[in-house]
Amino acid sequence: MPVNTADPRFVQLSFANSSVTIFYFGATVTSWTVDGHERLFLSSKALLDSSKAIRGGIPLVFPHFGSVSYSKLPQHGFARNSTWKFLGAVKDSSDEVVVQFELRPELVPEHLRALWQHDFRLVYTVRLADRTLTTSLRAENPGSESFLFTSLLHTYLRIANVDDVAVRGFENRQYLDKVTPGTFTETRSEAKIAMEVDRVYQQVDGEVLVENTHIGDVRIHKTNFPDVVLWNPWIEKAQAMADFGDEEYKNMVCVEVGSVSTPIVLEAGQSWEGQQILVV
Ligand code: BG6
Repeated sequence: MPVNTADPRFVQLSFANSSVTIFYFGATVTSWTVDGHERLFLSSKALLDSSKAIRGGIPLVFPHFGSVSYSKLPQHGFARNSTWKFLGAVKDSSDEVVVQFELRPELVPEHLRALWQHDFRLVYTVRLADRTLTTSLRAENPGSESFLFTSLLHTYLRIANVDDVAVRGFENRQYLDKVTPGTFTETRSEAKIAMEVDRVYQQVDGEVLVENTHIGDVRIHKTNFPDVVLWNPWIEKAQAMADFGDEEYKNMVCVEVGSVSTPIVLEAGQSWEGQQILVV
């Protein structure tokens, strides 16, 4: 069955030699396998009982990335902490299988909803095709006033060993460094990870290539997501996270496409859509 809803917590899609699992909580993609190999990282300590955002896979960040002065919402907003409505399969063909999820204000937990009172509708589309996973987030403003937002797909990629990973596509791009605060220009053609990394690369216009020895490379294409966050918590931050194993920083890197440097103004009646395509 290409779309399996047997488990009340998630939907599973299968297509050719690939499969994907999407929890209704956060509309979080938690698994993407190709030829039997898992390509996303999900922490062994991730909580999957809707009590906390899922640590791994592709959590959705909306209506803002990080913590911002103009909102009292917790870091990364409420989309990853809300149970989305499954809209069902919109396509099941010989090329791909496509499902959609929706988030509206009434689905957001009340204590979070109280902190961001704009009217909105989000539609998340997940398309599984041959060796390709496409995820698109559309934000609509059905209200009568504009609102500001930032958004991001917080993708955790599974890697065999952090020492072997290299991320290409950032050369000459400006980045905001959250570890050594400041704005810098990337001089390297390949970013390696040998310490805590938490950077927002700006105006990344081409492909981002994650060279992933032993597991296989991942190519990332994107539309309407000008920024890319590169994050690895390294040793101390890994130890400080209750839902992350102490050694797991060796097996993941987050490469997160987003529109976060400059908030988007969504006028009444308008919509916006951002898309990521992962290819292996
Ligand atoms: C990244 C941020 O996107 O998410 C980091 O750049 C942050 O600063 C990380 O630590 C994880 O955030 P959280 O809220 O899931 O622990």
